[in-house]
Amino acid sequence: MDKDGSKIIFSGIQPSGTITLGNYIGAVRNWPLTAKMGRGIFSVADLHALTVRNKPSELRARTLSTFAILLASGVDPENSIVFVQSHVPAHAELAWVLNCYTMFGELGRMTQFKDKSKQHSENVNAGLFTYPALMAADILLYDTDLVPVGVDQKQHVELARDIALRFNGVYGDVFTIPEGYIPSFGAKICSLTRPDKKMSKSDPNPKSYISIVEDADTIIKKFKSAVTDSDGRIAFSPEKAGISNLLTIYSTMTGCTVEEAVSEFEGSGYGDFKLAVGKAVAEGLRPLREKYEDLMNNKDYLVSVMEQGAARAAKIADRTLARVYKKIGLFKG
Ligand code: TYM
Repeated sequence: MDKDGSKIIFSGIQPSGTITLGNYIGAVRNWPLTAKMGRGIFSVADLHALTVRNKPSELRARTLSTFAILLASGVDPENSIVFVQSHVPAHAELAWVLNCYTMFGELGRMTQFKDKSKQHSENVNAGLFTYPALMAADILLYDTDLVPVGVDQKQHVELARDIALRFNGVYGDVFTIPEGYIPSFGAKICSLTRPDKKMSKSDPNPKSYISIVEDADTIIKKFKSAVTDSDGRIAFSPEKAGISNLLTIYSTMTGCTVEEAVSEFEGSGYGDFKLAVGKAVAEGLRPLREKYEDLMNNKDYLVSVMEQGAARAAKIADRTLARVYKKIGLFKG
């Protein structure tokens, strides 16, 4: 909760690849909307991206472009705080403290750790394992009430709550207990080539995901080749993962309900349906893409917004960190 009683909304995104339509529908698109409920604080979580190997020049470039995407998606740097995680040292500092209040067994139960350690079996590093404690630090530094995320981050937000409750149980009411804010619809957008899997920016097959800043023709082409099924009916059901995913995407991008989308395409072939979804996405993302291109041509502006955001975030985060250090008994002369 903020000093004036308004809710604090915090979320983050890793600059670990291209930002996908899944990131956008499941999370980023909701950030400016949830920020209207109180004060929004949003971060490009670059420290999180270190859990896998990156080319330094690429990580730097992706951090800038992810920051631009947040602004292009409607995150308003006047009303919200938007910053790069590593620019506020309190994140790494509180993460260390919280590591000491997070159980090995809890971290071992995180499904994302299990999945990612299979995916990167050559580099199962300690950071990959303890990453949820860093995410808890991100959230708890700002007395966050709500954390808007897609469904794949739900378990990590729940762990942040458990860590906060454990800490408060020992030291009193130090942390606000956060809650996940998961959209009732679109919280898991699936891969276009394997609709039983979530759409992921780390998928090696670029046809499986839509980058939210790619050109209209590429977007439409990818939707045309999206995997569906062979029964030819446009319906929303668990057995029809490909078609259901496309219906979800269509309805979230156009603002209609799934029922309206189903009746709109009743009797259409899959080819026409996929083309219509592709066009709706390409058109829906056009303003974002144009704003993004403008912003990327104005690096000085982006850097100045970053600096202001980090200064504003650090003011809050440093206060929380000082409170924590005092509670746990770190000596200060
Ligand atoms: P990341 O970078 O993997 O994803 C950013 C956001 O996008 C959502 N998302 C999806 N939603 C729907 N369908 C999909 N296919 C899909 N893929 C991703 C994620 O749920 C997430 O909300 N650890 C976080 C970043 C983070 C963070 C935080 C989030 C760092 N600190 C503090 C909340 C609070 C991550 O890796 O998200």
